[in-house]
Amino acid sequence: MFGKRKSINDVFTPRSSDVNKNMYIVRESLEKELIRSIRGSMHSFLFGESGNGKSWLYKRVFSEHEIDYVVANCASASIKKSIVDEIYSVCVKNGSVQKSSYSETKKAGIKAVGTAELAHQGNYEIKQEDKLIESFKSLSSNTNSKPVVIVFDNVETIFKNEDLMSELCDIIILLDDSRYSQYNVKFLIVGVPNQVLEYFSSAKNPASVGNRIEEISRVAGLFPGQVQTFSEKGFQDLLRVNIGDTQLKRLAQHIFDITLGVPQRLHEYCEGLSYLIEDNRWEYKPSMLDLADQNWLKKGLRENYSVLEKHLNADETVSGRRNQVIYALGKISNHQVNTTIVGEQIAKEFPNNAPESNSGIGQVLSHLAKGEKPVLKKVAHSKSYTLTDPRYLMCIRIMLHKDDETEIVRKKMFKLN
Ligand SMILES: Nc1ncnc2c1ncn2[C@@H]1O[C@H](COP(=O)(O)OP(=O)(O)OP(=O)(O)O)[C@@H](O)[C@H]1O
Ligand SMILES: [Mg+2]
Repeated sequence: MFGKRKSINDVFTPRSSDVNKNMYIVRESLEKELIRSIRGSMHSFLFGESGNGKSWLYKRVFSEHEIDYVVANCASASIKKSIVDEIYSVCVKNGSVQKSSYSETKKAGIKAVGTAELAHQGNYEIKQEDKLIESFKSLSSNTNSKPVVIVFDNVETIFKNEDLMSELCDIIILLDDSRYSQYNVKFLIVGVPNQVLEYFSSAKNPASVGNRIEEISRVAGLFPGQVQTFSEKGFQDLLRVNIGDTQLKRLAQHIFDITLGVPQRLHEYCEGLSYLIEDNRWEYKPSMLDLADQNWLKKGLRENYSVLEKHLNADETVSGRRNQVIYALGKISNHQVNTTIVGEQIAKEFPNNAPESNSGIGQVLSHLAKGEKPVLKKVAHSKSYTLTDPRYLMCIRIMLHKDDETEIVRKKMFKLN
């Protein structure tokens, strides 16, 4: 532990779009898969839940391998009502509205693009196809004809927009045409929904689009070992917190349990905890975790908390079956649950108070799947359920506590106002 202590905001950066080299956790297999796909002959598709690190992943990989790229934002395409217009914006224009894309361009090492190409634009409307060529030409001249990637980030914002998705398909097909392919442009599509590839495969020209796109494995949360490395880097190395290895290990386990390893959540939680540690003259105490949990819950899980609260029984009796079910849900890491799985978990957690049969469990599960804000949703054609939002799992893990002796499940009282 040498050097000066860094500032908390330089260490934990929950929403930073720039990759923080000091805190980046290497994801070897995903990184390898991505670079191989980018260098391969197909376009690539990167997906995973929001906050899991898709954007950091491609930025890191592109910078490591010196791949030039520009980021077209699908949300902007949605506003412009045209993908080509968004591509044109990030490749050719550099007006003030395009600052963020422009800075992405600079970051990727491409020279700033001139405006000469725009000189005649006011005189007549360039046809969309010409606009696309114009965009690629401009990109290519700035990268000395090196291959270049156009990233379509946040594809979830246009996924339900038939016109834009269909335009995207058309462009992907056009890219095979030698008039376009000569520019060495490749697409990386990035977004939350995992049905995108399915969409491309069933889109109007199935053989064409689906076959041109390769899917990278899902970007999920970090593993416990990676969360441990993250905590070491952040607390011990950069913030120079006085915390021994054993305590750090326990802390990392706690952080993993409640954040599920979601990188954005890790940063949020650790940022909050760091302030508590700073207020205690940089001395860490395990007793700080309760307050850290509560602060974090207030920031991002308030709504989930109040929904769950309504589902929990008011009385804290052992027979509070509903509480047992919800507590058990918090202990299960399976993606899907059903009456049997929950029953087994209850038997394990409540050996002295588990009921003889699974009766009642199904009722609780189905109740959790009802209402305006359901916690669970039914999996089609099966008796299983999944959580509607992983934040419910984070929340259950923070708010419910089981007394090991009496096996009573209690809700931790948090004041959310
Ligand atoms: N490999 C990583 N190591 C450490 N922190 C990471 C890593 N990847 C992401 N993060 C953290 O998580 C945050 C969210 O990551 P990122 O923006 O890449 O997620 P995303 O999957 O693109 O989310 P969205 O779908 O909302 O765009 C980052 O701002 C950063 O703080
Ligand atoms: Mg992103």
